[in-house]
Amino acid sequence: MERREETAMHAPVAGAAPMRVEDLRREIVGIETRVPLLDGTERPYVFLDNAASTPALRGVLRAIEEFLPWYSGVHRGTGFKSVLTTGVFDAAHDTVGKFAGADPARNTVVFTKNTTECVNKLSNRFRFRPDDVVITTTMEHHSNDLPWRKNARVIHIGITSDGRPDLAAMKGAIAREKGRVRLVAVSGASNITGLCSPVRDIAAWAHGAGAKIFVDAAQLAPHRPIDMLPDDDPGHIDFLALSAHKMYAPFGTGALVGAKEFFEEGDPDQVGGGVVDIVTLDRAVWNRPPHKEEAGSPNVIGGVALAAAVRVLSSVGMDAIAAHEQELLAYGYAKLKKINRIVLYGPTDHLEEKVGVMAFNIEGMHHSLVAAILSVEGGIGVRDGCFCAHPYVKELLHVGAEEDRVFTAEVLSGNKSHMPGMVRASLGCYNTREDIDALAEMLERVVKGAYRGTYDQDPATGAFHARGYDVDFARYCSLASQPTPGRVHSEAS
Ligand SMILES: Cc1ncc(COP(=O)(O)O)c(C=O)c1O
Repeated sequence: MERREETAMHAPVAGAAPMRVEDLRREIVGIETRVPLLDGTERPYVFLDNAASTPALRGVLRAIEEFLPWYSGVHRGTGFKSVLTTGVFDAAHDTVGKFAGADPARNTVVFTKNTTECVNKLSNRFRFRPDDVVITTTMEHHSNDLPWRKNARVIHIGITSDGRPDLAAMKGAIAREKGRVRLVAVSGASNITGLCSPVRDIAAWAHGAGAKIFVDAAQLAPHRPIDMLPDDDPGHIDFLALSAHKMYAPFGTGALVGAKEFFEEGDPDQVGGGVVDIVTLDRAVWNRPPHKEEAGSPNVIGGVALAAAVRVLSSVGMDAIAAHEQELLAYGYAKLKKINRIVLYGPTDHLEEKVGVMAFNIEGMHHSLVAAILSVEGGIGVRDGCFCAHPYVKELLHVGAEEDRVFTAEVLSGNKSHMPGMVRASLGCYNTREDIDALAEMLERVVKGAYRGTYDQDPATGAFHARGYDVDFARYCSLASQPTPGRVHSEAS
């Protein structure tokens, strides 16, 4: 999303000392953490799974430490600490709104626990009628798909042969469904290919058909400037969601930004304490948003953390972060393209249209085996599988209907051995060329068969385990317990 000219409302968020992109690496908690390898040595962890969740920023920890002595319950307390906490928590909402370019007079910022909760809340709050349509794409994370399917008739726009959403089809569907389409829901950036949606164009098409637009900014907000624009701009964004744990503040907060007016209408998504002005035995009068949508005692620390992260990122500048990550992505693709048998998914040109996500496979090797080797022989954290975007991943992998039926039957019978998937390396603002070098070097070794372990696959999870890699996790972190063998993990992120 392009940044419009800075106005007072869109000035960098105040309250953090100016910082440069180069400063961010040493601001990451755990950046020097060493992890054990199969050969018995240790090496500093190379973290390339930022699209799933990022490590915390020191600035976030400092803010929490400064705030904790003053922490108290919000909104209903009369004591000094409660009044102070209420002010800090309310200001955290404003900080996040400012980061998203929201108009404070017209928009509200609702804190949730993550993007998934934001989308579910929005879907429940839309009060769809039976014929109402939501238009989305097959590129979406399940969190920007299933909550719509629950409450509305969903039209999925497919992708073109290069992995981009079919914009001509989308424009046509929006025009065709005029009068029925209430919402167009698109990701700001894909968690598989990193592709950014042209949200200004899509917003203009949606608004032209009398619909609203929702942008799932889970993968966009940590990497690009965001600006929802004023409501009279055809390209404005009506609703936007983000997750703090993908923005260096993993303390359990998400944010849903949208029109106050929308949330003022109707009943809140969840009811209980905090959402009411007054209650009698037969009546409840709802509070105003965001309180109306934040039922129960809120996660104050999570809100403080998100606001602190936003201040640090803003002090560096989202444009500078985007430029750094784009340069790294170009470097990464250049390296991976030189390695034999590496298959890359999605477009690898026009990198200005992409955040730093590289999805790939090694021809002839299971994606989970590659990810396991990278971890235990390279100390490199990536992710593999279908990443909560099964339709998109299967389309990119050209999985046919019959093949899909066979995999699905196998998975349903408890065997994930042949589940299709990819390996994903995803960049954060603190990653360096050295991190990419480490990845490329290990991949070269894997491709040449020059890895040392013997790996067994667990059919229940599809994951590979290196024989002899029996690490005592509690040696590294006293809170850790041994992973349960054969534990079934669900797909995530
Ligand atoms: C594009 C996208 N949308 C939504 C989500 C869901 O975010 P969360 O797990 O924080 O709810 C993710 C998570 O990876 C994502 O990548």
